Amino acid sequence: MYYDDIVDEIKARLDIVDIVSETVRLTRKGSRYWGLCPFHQEKTPSFCVTPEKGMFYCFGCHAGGDIFSFVMKRDGISFKEALELLASKAGVSPSLERFNTKQKDLKRFILQVNKKAAEFYHNNLKSPKGFLAREYLRKRGISDKTIDLFKLGYAPDEWEGLKNFLLAENIPFDYLQKSGLLRKSDKTGNYYDLFRNRIIFPVFQYNGDIIAFGARVLDDSMPKYINSPETEVFSKGRNLYGIFQAREAIRSANEAILVEGYTDCIKLHQSGVQNVVASLGTAFTQEQARLLCRYAEKVVVLYDGDEAGQRSTLKAIDVLTREKLQVYVASIPGRRDPDEYLDLVGKEDFLTFIKNNKISHIEFKINYYLKNKKSLDLEDKIKIINMLKSDISELESELLRDYYIKILAQKLVLEENIVFREIKRENTKKLVFNGNKKQIKRDNIRYDNSSLEDRLIASMLKNGYIFNRIKTELGFGIFKNQTYREICILYDGLEGGTEEKIKKLEQQLIEKGLMAEYARLMMQDIVLIDESGIEKIIKEVLSRKREAALQKLLQKLNSLKDKGDFNAVLRFLVYLDLFLNNRKEGGIK
Ligand code: UTP
Ligand code: MN
Repeated sequence: MYYDDIVDEIKARLDIVDIVSETVRLTRKGSRYWGLCPFHQEKTPSFCVTPEKGMFYCFGCHAGGDIFSFVMKRDGISFKEALELLASKAGVSPSLERFNTKQKDLKRFILQVNKKAAEFYHNNLKSPKGFLAREYLRKRGISDKTIDLFKLGYAPDEWEGLKNFLLAENIPFDYLQKSGLLRKSDKTGNYYDLFRNRIIFPVFQYNGDIIAFGARVLDDSMPKYINSPETEVFSKGRNLYGIFQAREAIRSANEAILVEGYTDCIKLHQSGVQNVVASLGTAFTQEQARLLCRYAEKVVVLYDGDEAGQRSTLKAIDVLTREKLQVYVASIPGRRDPDEYLDLVGKEDFLTFIKNNKISHIEFKINYYLKNKKSLDLEDKIKIINMLKSDISELESELLRDYYIKILAQKLVLEENIVFREIKRENTKKLVFNGNKKQIKRDNIRYDNSSLEDRLIASMLKNGYIFNRIKTELGFGIFKNQTYREICILYDGLEGGTEEKIKKLEQQLIEKGLMAEYARLMMQDIVLIDESGIEKIIKEVLSRKREAALQKLLQKLNSLKDKGDFNAVLRFLVYLDLFLNNRKEGGIK
């Protein structure tokens, strides 16, 4: 029981979707996340995670539980080990864990070096040395609050500022070198600071760990940015700038806004668009799209308005749609980037602009291909149809498919049915795709269909009054499901308020290995039964019980009659009378 506090703290700080995503590729569908189950072999996803409940459940192999049961099962470790592992991830345990490999230790040390370095840069920005950098940020409209939120910093104009600071902190040189923050001089072989006289943008991982840095010059000199090299903890194609600050907003909006630049990301966030992330100065990668799948189903691409930006948009669209994300595009007018446009028109107009100018990826593509074309011959038209074929035929909704075919026909000045026929030729691909979708839908139906037993126990665990009514009137024996009976017995033995009891219950279920069935229950969108509904059920069950008992008695009466034992029959009739009167009372209740 003394784990209680730490278990709560860990659950509050860690997100089950993040932890599961370390090993399972999850895709958001509504408020749930689906992936291939790591605990059995399967080709279509039946493994489901719900972050609000902090639970996972596999509809195929019936593995299930919370964040603790997940890592226990995944790594084959005990509850205590899982606790230690998760505590360190959540940053709540002072003790460093013993069971991690060397590799993981190295990662942890690099993360520590990065954290210290970020503090060094941040403090520098706020010190007299950072005066010009502060001025620069102020001119660009970046507030102090934003500076703190993104932990922006300044690398002083010195060759060994950071190096000496970190060495003075007793960090072994080996780790310093592996952190990528130092560069080796070809001439002298000495190490010196990679970032000098630059604004520092720490790159946070989803969980708040600092995995890299971007560093911008204060003027127009080149290169504009230098970034951390790939290290043990950083691979730029796998991360998104701003994800740590944006993830909650992305999740609750079910939509992410994707920009190109560090400053775009920061400024939009500051203006109230908090679900914004930036690709890290590379072409948008499949891994980055997968990262977004974890948080949202929709993505709005908001790249620079110039030709390069539009071309990158086209590429990003393909990468994003491959992950089955719904993609929209908002094109910034002129050749500006989002940050400049925001400064130009102000926050309100900017937000309105995005809202009103967001178009689907298909419309964007149509516009893009048609742009700069004064006249189209038939060959051009067929080319354009071909380029849009798969996008349109992969749409799930027939309505939408028809809609875009219509638009395309209009823009190309072609008969609708000609476009339709051209696009239909792509259909084999679509069929495969629908096949997968169906599987997921079927699973969804299965878990929405909760039984009366499920509804009853869920209602009992929510409402103490209901729990007691069922316990005293019907007893836990009414559950056919053995685990539900055990859950009731365990729960009944606990002290405290409902919430506290649930926490204790969950812990006991883990220890007793009963978590999976409980997780299955928690996964469902159960319609709870209210108190009057419970009374009806009690009445119904009791009357059925009596009916069954009466039938038994009547059978007995018949057998006594057959035996011809008159006295026994008489005694029995008196008993039957009592029983029936009693039933009447029960009926009135
Ligand atoms: P931009 O040049 O659009 O950067 O490059 P920006 O953030 O808008 O910069 P400001 O507004 O001039 O300050 C987009 C992104 O490409 C990467 C960075 O991640 C940058 O934010 N980039 C750009 C580099 O990594 N190196 C460069 O030299 C330039
Ligand atoms: Mn910019």
